[in-house]
Amino acid sequence: MSDADKFLYVDRDLVNNPLAQADWASKKLVWVPSERSGFEAGSLKEESGDECLVELVDSGKKIKVNKDDIQKMNPPKFSKVEDMAELTCLNEASVLHNLKERYYSGLIYTYSGLFCVVINPYKNLPIYSEEIVEMYKGKKRHEMPPHIYAITDTAYRSMMQDREDQSILCTGESGAGKTENTKKVIQYLAHVASAFKTKKDQVSSSTLLIGELEKQLLQANPMLEAFGNAKTVKNDNSSRFGKFIRINFDVNGYIVGANIETYLLEKSRAIRQAKNERTFHIFYYMLTGAGDKISDWSFNYMACHF
Ligand SMILES: Nc1ncnc2c1ncn2[C@@H]1O[C@H](COP(=O)(O)OP(=O)(O)OP(=O)(O)O)[C@@H](O)[C@H]1O
Ligand SMILES: [Mg+2]
Repeated sequence: MSDADKFLYVDRDLVNNPLAQADWASKKLVWVPSERSGFEAGSLKEESGDECLVELVDSGKKIKVNKDDIQKMNPPKFSKVEDMAELTCLNEASVLHNLKERYYSGLIYTYSGLFCVVINPYKNLPIYSEEIVEMYKGKKRHEMPPHIYAITDTAYRSMMQDREDQSILCTGESGAGKTENTKKVIQYLAHVASAFKTKKDQVSSSTLLIGELEKQLLQANPMLEAFGNAKTVKNDNSSRFGKFIRINFDVNGYIVGANIETYLLEKSRAIRQAKNERTFHIFYYMLTGAGDKISDWSFNYMACHF
């Protein structure tokens, strides 16, 4: 088992536990709303009219719940399922529970039909190396565990097969991981769609096999982020603008160009920020770079204000 495996694959022995299956069936387990944790597991004891008596699994407390507030629980064989479209009971409680269980086991990617849900791990996982890129290359989506690379590969293969433009939309609240995952999409494409092919004997296998154009595409990000990102209370590297990245490929599927359109930069941040927030990174970079040499009054003035 490699280092990355535990961040990609579910431990099936734990999931296919016959005891858990028996427990689920005999206890009639359901989800009930909980103020503290959204939903919690309970055992259905009695049903009379609209009201049900439920014994909470964790505390053993018995509570009365309206029938409409109860959500069915999936059998344990669905535990940590990779694609939530497979769940027999597709309800809010089961979706949240599945995402939470997977996240607590280090699995940040989960499919929900065509979508890929990502939960920010806030730490670097060993799942973005070149070896992992190679693992996902050309594979069908369901042959591999959920990953942003699988989404990217599907888009790339569809473009090649159907000869149609493809798009990947990254959406979510501030700090969700849109920018980080967008970078992984570019990294993957730069690797699999690079026209730059070096003869194997010229480079060691660890050398990144990508060309100048692909490098430029990856290197554009630090510049864009310097001018357009800033620390906010939600995200130390929050994008204060939207971007549309278009990557062009030739008929053979090699990258031949790219352009980035930006939208709605939060310009007011240059002069005014909320408490505990900062202006765009570039100002701090300039001041750090200038070091002691700043004597100009306007620069000092800037330093006081940013
Ligand atoms: N897959 C990941 N692995 C490790 N760290 C991550 C990952 N995704 C996000 N992070 C961490 O979370 C931070 C916030 O993520 P990111 O900047 O991508 O959010 P965002 O959705 O673009 O937010 P905003 O809307 O504010 O721009 C990153 O700076 C990084 O530290
Ligand atoms: Mg961002």
